Amino acid sequence: MDQSERKRLVAREALAHVEDGMALGVGTGSTVDFFIDALGEHPYRKLCLVSSSERSTARLGGLGLDVTELSAVGDVDLYIDGADEATQHLHLIKGGGGALTREKIVAGAARRFICIVDDSKLVGRLGKFPLPVEVIPMARSFVARQLVKLGGQPVWRRDFVTDNGNQIIDVRNLEIARPVEMETRINQIPGVVTVGLFAHRGADMLLVGTDRGVEAVT
Ligand code: 5RP
Repeated sequence: MDQSERKRLVAREALAHVEDGMALGVGTGSTVDFFIDALGEHPYRKLCLVSSSERSTARLGGLGLDVTELSAVGDVDLYIDGADEATQHLHLIKGGGGALTREKIVAGAARRFICIVDDSKLVGRLGKFPLPVEVIPMARSFVARQLVKLGGQPVWRRDFVTDNGNQIIDVRNLEIARPVEMETRINQIPGVVTVGLFAHRGADMLLVGTDRGVEAVT
């Protein structure tokens, strides 16, 4: 089974956790695209969908599924999203697609967060995937210098603007031995909007698509 098939498999498995009447948060990325497509095939009743990106909003809309603003919904019952890296401790790196800020907001508002990944995303320690940091444009160089002091190599994601009108720095070679502490430290740099470390609010459950089927980590 190739990676794309493992993504599709785990995305379809996530449907088993969706119930009529839920306020459902929808993440962003190619794995979530499979989830959205599967959602479109099922006649759920009274689902209230909250989207984490313009990309997912457009895909949902293309299937005739309307989205509601988070502020009009309150808390979300369930959030389904992918990740770029995930550990057995349910800590994540997200933001490869640049949607980390809205993703972190929806995850924060979610009673339950199920992260869907294929097994290539499982790691012992986070940080091989460059850590995305969304920054206010005028702060980009300043934030980059602070990230160097933390031991990373910041690279500006050129020609990319987030849904919030900001820029992304991808931080390479960062030692993330203690994800909660690193998330706090990066959050405290002035000009940082969001760091793509999801450790304070990690996933509640990881569904992992493998050649043997879908495995759950809780
Ligand atoms: C987007 C994300 C995605 O969840 C992450 O990049 C995984 O993407 P994919 O499912 O395409 O591998 O955080 O900001």
